[in-house]
Amino acid sequence: MNTHQGTAHGRVEVLGNHTDYNQGLVLAMGVEYATEVTGSNRTDERLFFKAKDLKESWEGSLQDLSPSPNKMWANYVLGVLQGLKERGIPLKGINLEISSNLPMGAGLSSSAALTVATQRFLQKLWNFSLPPIEMAKISQESEHRYAGVKCGLLDPMAILHAKKDHLLLLDFRSLKVESVPFPSTANFIIAACGEKHSLVDGEYNERRASCEEASRLLGVSSLREVTPDRLLESKVKLPDRIYRRALHVVGETHRVGKASFLLKKGDMAGFGKILDESHESSRINFENSIPALDHLIESSKKSPGHLGARLTGGGFGGSTLHLVQANQQTDFLSTFQKEVERRLGHSIEFFVTRPSGVA
Ligand code: GLA
Repeated sequence: MNTHQGTAHGRVEVLGNHTDYNQGLVLAMGVEYATEVTGSNRTDERLFFKAKDLKESWEGSLQDLSPSPNKMWANYVLGVLQGLKERGIPLKGINLEISSNLPMGAGLSSSAALTVATQRFLQKLWNFSLPPIEMAKISQESEHRYAGVKCGLLDPMAILHAKKDHLLLLDFRSLKVESVPFPSTANFIIAACGEKHSLVDGEYNERRASCEEASRLLGVSSLREVTPDRLLESKVKLPDRIYRRALHVVGETHRVGKASFLLKKGDMAGFGKILDESHESSRINFENSIPALDHLIESSKKSPGHLGARLTGGGFGGSTLHLVQANQQTDFLSTFQKEVERRLGHSIEFFVTRPSGVA
């Protein structure tokens, strides 16, 4: 039996928090860490999946692609198979093994990396291809229907377009993707706060519902139609909580516009300030930060070479993203670690990264 493999990098949301499902703008990038799916065809209709790192396995049949109650990782693969079936791709029995060095639950989108890697693997195994936007939709449907998270298209789109040394400017209204060179004078540090974020717990879906409520009350099809000025003029139409949710989302798309302009000019100090503003807005308006994440941000601000920092991804735990001056990185890390230990009472996991993906 011929063995094939598909790989997908994790992604980081650099700026543009909870804007994707509001048809807004996001700056994102791929990270070095990736998920790999390998496997081969079977001659029957059975499905055998293995998660190497978790030392777990799952088995079933093509006749039943319904979600598995206690193996979340298997659900993502089943969701992909269901999406392909609905698009008329003939399915076969398979043996499949997943291995990954992407930390799970740290906000680097290990789940979208799995659904994209599975699709890349199956495209090679069964010799078909789908346009990136269709692949992204299959990944998204898998999250919606098999994990119950009403996420947007950010994670799979960023993973599918990840490019070395470039940030991706993603527009979720036009679905256009632009890659913008990222200078060598700055690097990113990703720090996991130690509290696993779990988007399955309903907070994420609640935030999405609040944004939809804001759009309804403002009489627009999505928050992308609203400028910061217009939102302020319409403040009286919205209950305070809904207004603050909308203020975050509208502000984020506006900030992505400004930050992209500064990035193209090479103004990394200006770019960093916008990351700081984004975190403040998450903390106060969207309320998707938690104290551990705030401690990482405050520690960052006290460290030499800090340009900007914010929580990244859904929130409620997971990771923070820090933009640091490349030539001060070592000093930054030693102060940052000490400050974090002092505040949290324990050390944290972090890694230095540059935008990664295809060259
Ligand atoms: C999660 C979701 C994305 C996006 C971010 C927040 O990562 O999967 O679709 O909404 O949160 O920006």
